[in-house]
Amino acid sequence: MSSVIKINAITVPEDSGDQLGERFAARRESMQGTPGFQGFELLQPTDGRTSWLVVTRWDSEEDFENWRNSESFGASHGHSGGEAPKRPVGMSSELWSYTVFTTG
Ligand code: HEM
Repeated sequence: MSSVIKINAITVPEDSGDQLGERFAARRESMQGTPGFQGFELLQPTDGRTSWLVVTRWDSEEDFENWRNSESFGASHGHSGGEAPKRPVGMSSELWSYTVFTTG
């Protein structure tokens, strides 16, 4: 099945990656049942870079856009549910869009 791949590259201050990882682990469940969402991986850099990659896969562009504009996007990002807002770990982020061209 073809996939729409959306990668969020989050740049964090040095040594704060663990905190980012913990926050993602805590929010994993919130993605369950999202229409068209196939899964994600949070990739930790191992070469000294400070950008972590959130690689997400979707059935379609539209499924991704629907999620981004939904309340569950806010929920996955701690912007709802009466939680006290936490200071974000990331300093900046960039969204990249890919599709699988070929696999080996
Ligand atoms: C490609 C899709 C995604 C986009 C565009 C996106 C967007 C963002 C942005 C802009 C940030 C940094 C700003 C902020 O801290 O609020 C961020 C951080 C974060 N995202 Fe996402 N995200 C995506 C996927 C996901 C998924 C699938 C999850 C669920 C596990 C998730 C959970 C989080 C968490 C826990 C943080 C860390 C917040 C912090 O720094 O404390 N994100 N995301």
